[in-house]
Amino acid sequence: VPQTTRPTIKTVPTFGEMPAVYGEGMADLVAWVDKVAALTTPDRVHWVDGSRAENDALLREMVDEGKIIKLNPEWRPGSYLARSHPSDVARTEARTFIASQRETDAGPTNNWAEPDEIRATINPLFEGSMRGRTMYVVPFSMGAVGGPLSHIGVQITDSAYAVVSIGIMTRVGTDVLRQIADGAPWVKTVHSVGAPLAPGEQDVAWPCNDEKYIVHFPDTLEVWSFGSGYGGNAILAKKCFALRIASVIGRNEGWLAEHMLLIRVISPEGKAYHVAAAFPSACGKTNLAMLRPTIPGWRVETIGDDIAWLRPGDDGRLWAINPEAGFFGVAPGTGESTNVAAVETLWGNTIFTNVALRPDGDVWWEGLTDTPPAKLTDWEGKPWTPDSGRPAAHPNSRFTVRASQCPQIAADWDAPEGVPLDVILFGGRRATNVPLVVEATDWTHGVFMGSNISSERTAAAEGTVGELRRDPFAMLPFCGYNLADYFGHWLRIGQKLRFDRAPRIFQVNWFRKGDDGRFLWPGFGDNARVIDWIIRRVEGSVGAVDSPVGRLPKTDELNLDGVEISDADVEALFSIDRDSWMRESELTEDFYRTFDGRVPAPLWAELSALRYRLQRA
Ligand code: GDP
Ligand code: PGA
Ligand code: MN
Repeated sequence: VPQTTRPTIKTVPTFGEMPAVYGEGMADLVAWVDKVAALTTPDRVHWVDGSRAENDALLREMVDEGKIIKLNPEWRPGSYLARSHPSDVARTEARTFIASQRETDAGPTNNWAEPDEIRATINPLFEGSMRGRTMYVVPFSMGAVGGPLSHIGVQITDSAYAVVSIGIMTRVGTDVLRQIADGAPWVKTVHSVGAPLAPGEQDVAWPCNDEKYIVHFPDTLEVWSFGSGYGGNAILAKKCFALRIASVIGRNEGWLAEHMLLIRVISPEGKAYHVAAAFPSACGKTNLAMLRPTIPGWRVETIGDDIAWLRPGDDGRLWAINPEAGFFGVAPGTGESTNVAAVETLWGNTIFTNVALRPDGDVWWEGLTDTPPAKLTDWEGKPWTPDSGRPAAHPNSRFTVRASQCPQIAADWDAPEGVPLDVILFGGRRATNVPLVVEATDWTHGVFMGSNISSERTAAAEGTVGELRRDPFAMLPFCGYNLADYFGHWLRIGQKLRFDRAPRIFQVNWFRKGDDGRFLWPGFGDNARVIDWIIRRVEGSVGAVDSPVGRLPKTDELNLDGVEISDADVEALFSIDRDSWMRESELTEDFYRTFDGRVPAPLWAELSALRYRLQRA
C-alpha cells in the first residue's frame, strides 16, 4: 500500500484518517491527493468518510468559527444559515471554461481555453492556495453506488461548506473508495476558495477570491475550480461533473447528461408515466418536480429536480436516473401557495444560503409567506424591515436538502436502473410568442424545438435579469462540448429508440404575459392541467390542432375546471404570431450559422419546413 506524504494531521479527533482501503486503484488516488497537497500546501488533509458524526462535527466547527449560524432547533432542527460574500452569489459563466484539446470541440457557445495554457494560468493561483486550511478529500458517487448508469468522482476542497453540501447532494462514503481501489474510472475535481491564511490570520465568514476560474478538462476528466464558494461553482459533482463532464462521457458512450427534472405522474386511473423536463436555471424545475396537482385524481412523485442521465435501453425505451441525492433549490418564490412540497421538505436538516434570518432564529425569504415579518436580518446581515426597499433574501438564495426528505419522493427514486421515459418537456421563460404547450410531430421536430429554446435571464447566473437569450435544451451553460455536435447526438439517440417507444416531446411555457404585464397562466399546481393533456395525448385519448409550430390542444380538451381565467387569456396563451415567429426563425438561422456548418442537416430541414408552414399560415 502506498504511503501518502501528507502534511501532519491535526484534525477533528477521530475523523479524517485515510481509510484502510486496499487495491490497485488506490495508488492513483493517493498520488493525486499528494500532488494536489504539494501544490496547494494545506495545513491538514482530511479524508471524508461521509458519516453522520463527521458531518455533525464539521457543522459544529463551522458554527464555532462563525461561518454558519445554527437556526433555532425548535423551528428548524439540524439547520443552518450561511451568508456568502456579496460578490459570490451565483454561477459565474464568464469565468467558466472548457479546456478541450481542440477549440471546435468546445464550440462557439463555451469559453474555450487551450489546456496547457490554462493550466499555466491557474497553477500559480492554486500554489499555496490552501495554506492555513484543511484540505478535504471527498469521494462521491453520482447515482446509486455501483449502479449501471452511475459514475464516481473525488472532490478535493478547502471549504467545509462545500463538504457538507456535497454530503447532501451526492452519495459520499468509503464504499466509493472501494470502487476506486477495484479500478473503476473516476473524475478528478479540485476546488479552492483561493483565500490562504497567514499564520495567526483571522479567517472571514465566507472566504473567496475576486479572481475566479471554473475550468473543465473533458479529455482528462478533470475539473479545477478557484475563487468561489457558491454551490454551482463549488459543488463540483453537480453542474461541472454531472452536466459538463458527463455530457462529454455521454457523447462518447451513447447516452445523455441533461439539465432535467424527473417525475412520475399517476393518472386518476392509476397508470404511471415518467416525465423529464429541461428548463433553464430558476425557470421552474424544482416546482414541477414537486407538483401538487390542483385537479382531482392526479398524483406526482418526485424523482429528481435538476439533472437526469438518460440512456437508451435494450427495450427501445429511454431510461433515466437522477444522479444526485439532494436538492439545491431557489428559495425565493417557494411558499405554501406555490410549492408546498418544497416547504415541507425544508422542515429541518437544511443548509440555507443567503436567505433572511428571523428574530426567533428561523429563516424567511420573499414568497415564503404573503406578508413579511416586521423585522428581519437580511442576507447581508443588516437589519431589515418591510419598508427597507430591498429584498431581504438574495434573489438567488438557496436551500440544500436531502431528496429523501421530500414528502412525495418516489419510493424507488434511487433505483439504479432508473425509470423509462414517456414524455420529454422543453421550456423557458417567454413573455411572448411561445404557447402554453405545443407538441412536436416527431423526435427530429422535438430536437429542433429543444435547439431553439430561449429564455429570459434569471438571477441564477451573473448577467442582466430579463434579457432574452438562447438556451438550447437549457444546456447553454452546461454542455461540455460543441452544441451543434450535441444536437447531432440527440438525433442519434433518437435512432436507437424504437419509434413507438421513444418519449413524446413537448414545449411548455408557464410564463407568457398579457399586454398589461401579468402572467396569463396561474402556473404551479395548475400546471397539472397541461400535464393532464400531455398524458392524454400519449394515451391517444385527446386530439390536437396542427399549427405552424406544432400541435396545440383543442381548448375544450384542456381541463380548466375551477381555474379563473378568461376566454381571451386562454386564446392569448395559444396565439401564434406569424410575423414574430418569422423573425425568430431568422434568429435561428443566424444562430445555426455560428456553428461553421456543424449543425446537422435534419435541423436545417426542420427550419425550412417551419418557415414554409409560417408562410402559408
Ligand atoms: P429551477 O431553478 O429551474 O429549479 O426553478 P424553481 O422551480 O426553483 O423556480 C424558480 C422561480 O420560478 C421561483 O421563484 C418560482 O416561484 C418560479 N416559478 C416556478 N414555477 C412557476 C410557474 O408555474 N409560474 C410562475 N409564474 N412562476 C413559477
Ligand atoms: P438551478 O442552478 O437554478 O438550475 O438549480 C443551480 C446553480 O445555480 O448552480
Ligand atoms: Mn432548482
